[in-house]
Amino acid sequence: MRIDIITVLPELLKSPFEASILKRAIEANLVEVHFHNLRDYTTDNYKSVDDTQFGGGAGMVMTIEPIDKCITQLQSQRHYDEIIYMTPDGETLKQGIANQISLKENIIILCGHYKGVDQRVRDMFITREISIGDYVLSGGELGAAVLCDAVIRLIPGVLGNETSALTDSFQDNLLAPPIYTKPREYKGMKVPEILFSGNFPEIEKWREEQAYLRTKERRPDLLDE
Ligand code: ADE
Repeated sequence: MRIDIITVLPELLKSPFEASILKRAIEANLVEVHFHNLRDYTTDNYKSVDDTQFGGGAGMVMTIEPIDKCITQLQSQRHYDEIIYMTPDGETLKQGIANQISLKENIIILCGHYKGVDQRVRDMFITREISIGDYVLSGGELGAAVLCDAVIRLIPGVLGNETSALTDSFQDNLLAPPIYTKPREYKGMKVPEILFSGNFPEIEKWREEQAYLRTKERRPDLLDE
């Protein structure tokens, strides 16, 4: 998979890709991530990427020209399956969306700033608009990092144990069950006996029950989906 990220703040975005699982995935060539600084596609001396709104109103709008130049150049090199715009008015990121995107070959992620981009960018290029939640960030970069993390860890080979992404919370619309490790008892708090029984069908049943109970208590909305 190849991800091209278009941003005015590449330095804000880079560190999540320089550590841990994402770094290993890139080093193992399971994913390529490229950053494109929008200012490199400007034509004026000030390298401006935004301007005031037509019709008046507070806040700057990202202009179409540098975005067009950048996306058009990328598209001249390969086909993109999805051109995603990170925006609070997009569809809310869920595990199912991350699953879908992890199957794509090449994607572009455009990070918005200020008030957002000129509507014509969305009309002309964007195939999918994604929000990471109902709150407004100062730019799309942190959202893009969240999306990339959720997607990249699903690519086969990225996680050590191939099955572990399948047992994540949300993969079956259930939260994950409680988990335990050593010591068996800590300050009087004991690990549930069933986990030492060696009876794996029973353990699996217990985990499913716990996942269901936890979901019912914390996120009953997931059970209706
Ligand atoms: N840009 C600003 N707020 C955002 C959000 N909630 N999700 C994605 N991109 C954003």
